[in-house]
Amino acid sequence: MQSWDMLAQTDPYWAVLTSDDRRGNRWSEEEFFATGEADVAAIMTRLASLGLVVDRTRALDFGCGLGRLTRALARRFAAVDGVDLSHVMIEKAVAIGPVSNVRFIHNPSEDLSPLDDEAYGLIVSLISIQHMPEKAAAIYVGDMCRVLARGGVAYLQLNTFLSVSDPRAAAKLTRDESLLNRVYRSARSVFRKKRLRMDTHYFRLSRLLNILERKRMQLVAVVPDSSVPEPFVSHVVIFRKRDQAPLPAPAGVTPAAASSGPAMESGGAPGGPPPGAAHR
Ligand SMILES: C[S@@+](CC[C@H](N)C(=O)[O-])C[C@H]1O[C@@H](n2cnc3c(N)ncnc32)[C@H](O)[C@@H]1O
Repeated sequence: MQSWDMLAQTDPYWAVLTSDDRRGNRWSEEEFFATGEADVAAIMTRLASLGLVVDRTRALDFGCGLGRLTRALARRFAAVDGVDLSHVMIEKAVAIGPVSNVRFIHNPSEDLSPLDDEAYGLIVSLISIQHMPEKAAAIYVGDMCRVLARGGVAYLQLNTFLSVSDPRAAAKLTRDESLLNRVYRSARSVFRKKRLRMDTHYFRLSRLLNILERKRMQLVAVVPDSSVPEPFVSHVVIFRKRDQAPLPAPAGVTPAAASSGPAMESGGAPGGPPPGAAHR
């Protein structure tokens, strides 16, 4: 069984919002979904403040988990799809209760092939891309460019860097690889229960921007996001698919990623990180 399935089986709300004081099934459903409502309200406000008009026909919540954001999106869009790798997460999201304009989709594939081309006016992803290795995340983001409708907007939060300036954080990340310690670890593992792993990765901003440039997306904003604890550094990247099919670039000319420069916010982002994003 996949790690995310096991996490969803044992403590699903905590697996999504890992706040220490909520470990052991101590999230109330009401409080949990209130964080999703607050996050989506903050996203919509930020998009409006950037002057982006979002088509409300269909939205996609990528890495939807229990549908924390999906349900809040469903109050604002005619239809919403929530997609997740974990079939247990999807089963639990459905079991929480049906919403007529939501489809929860289990997607075990390495891309978004079950989803239609140019179907979504908005794609949202919070605290999910950080759980995929960069290579896998790059494939999903590339495919998001296909499923985004013309003029559609993507709002992706992701870890972009690993900062080990804090010595305690660095110590946690560096393992003693001496022979003695490796023998000790393997002996210990025989007696210990298999630990559930919630792997966390980062996706270099330079690589992401390169994908967007190749796919001829318009980069709208890169916003520092203080919601993820050290040693990770997080950003929200907002991009848009152009309304018109771009003209093929003349031979030897590299297409520009953005016709107008992206907004770069520094320091604490106006509007801050999405409120529910505090528990990562
Ligand atoms: C921390 S939860 C966040 C859920 C949701 N985005 C939210 O904010 O409530 C991370 C989710 O990412 C999902 N996930 C991990 N790898 C994935 C992948 N390759 N494709 C889709 N979902 C994935 C996990 O199953 C899990 O449900």
